[in-house]
Amino acid sequence: MQGMTAPNESAFGVYVHWPFCLSKCPYCDFNSHVRHAAIDEARYVRAFAAELAATAARVPGRTVSTIFFGGGTPSLMQPATVGALLDTIAKHWSVARDAEVTLEANPTSVEATRFRGYRAAGVNRVSLGVQALDDGELKALGRMHTAREALDAVAIARAAFERYSFDLIYARPGQTPQAWTAELKRAIAEATEHLSLYQLTIEADTPFHALHKAGKLKVPDEELARTLYDTTQEVCAAAGLPAYEISNHARPGAECRHNLVYWRAHEYAGVGPGAHGRLDVDGERRATATEKRPEAWLMRVEATGHGVTTDEALTPGEMADEFLLMGLRLAEGIDPQRYARLSGRALDPKRIAILRAEGAVETTPSGMLRVTQSGFPVLDAVVADLAA
Ligand SMILES: C[S@@+](CC[C@H](N)C(=O)[O-])C[C@H]1O[C@@H](n2cnc3c(N)ncnc32)[C@H](O)[C@@H]1O
Ligand code: SF4
Repeated sequence: MQGMTAPNESAFGVYVHWPFCLSKCPYCDFNSHVRHAAIDEARYVRAFAAELAATAARVPGRTVSTIFFGGGTPSLMQPATVGALLDTIAKHWSVARDAEVTLEANPTSVEATRFRGYRAAGVNRVSLGVQALDDGELKALGRMHTAREALDAVAIARAAFERYSFDLIYARPGQTPQAWTAELKRAIAEATEHLSLYQLTIEADTPFHALHKAGKLKVPDEELARTLYDTTQEVCAAAGLPAYEISNHARPGAECRHNLVYWRAHEYAGVGPGAHGRLDVDGERRATATEKRPEAWLMRVEATGHGVTTDEALTPGEMADEFLLMGLRLAEGIDPQRYARLSGRALDPKRIAILRAEGAVETTPSGMLRVTQSGFPVLDAVVADLAA
């Protein structure tokens, strides 16, 4: 692939949520569940097939450009399960010949034979949750793998797939800019084209939240977090992996095309427990979400043919706000004309002028409005200002 795909090129993504993990990490508030009994994968395959059929009946005739197995821990699925889901997707829609098919994997469940099985089933990209390259730090994050095991998983990914990425969490308790710079450089040496680098966030209702509230978990203050963020940008850019999104870095052309579907406000279907979708039906953009609890989702699909619990048409204002919120995360920014088409009104030139004078946004020669390097750390405030 040469350069980034054009922002306005039409794209249709399919997101499949696998909601199970071997253990629950204390910082994570994703829809992930630990089950001690074996998971009946064949039963899930039937339920996914029903939900995919119901979704395809609403948005027929699309060409699927990206598929993403997210979780949870999709690398706990048997390759045959992944293969069956890909076959079902291909039965209902045509799948582009160059479709990007990503699967998220946890190093704890990475085996070479299993990865070759995913490759044979049609997966062509993996995203590994490495999180840290130090055993003590991994333990503090509640991870069940060592740094060695994570790097071995990266090597297996590299051997099995032409495209792979991995995730690290930074701004961890006690992390210094020096230590993070060294860790990041080691990570970059292992990455070929893509890295996701997330600042640790303390999410409500997680064990980390309780510890943090009790004063037993101290995360970097705003100033240190800012230094760590700036370090991340500098080190990655110097290594040829600039940020194309606030937490995602890639060689130009190697961006995650599936995530670009979300950030560019294109259309996507979401299937599985707790999956979200944005479907264009009868000229309206509909926001869909499914039942989150895996067993309740299963029973709902078996009874009604789908697990959808939310299905709402977005108003022009909601669509425009979502477009801003997602699009301004991208280094490329947003097309103000598309904003105006969605919302029925232009962005306020006065507000843009103020933000520009503050150095938070800029307009590119091609007319895109984007957040600057110094605006990114205050992205939420910039979006709120423009959306108001
Ligand atoms: C849903 S996980 C999927 C990957 C896989 N389950 C794993 O953990 O290896 C996606 C990524 O979200 C990130 N993440 C989850 N909770 C986070 C938090 N509270 N702060 C920062 N990053 C977080 C982690 O980097 C994780 O790899
Ligand atoms: S970070 Fe990954 S492995 Fe840990 S609980 Fe969340 S989804 Fe599961």
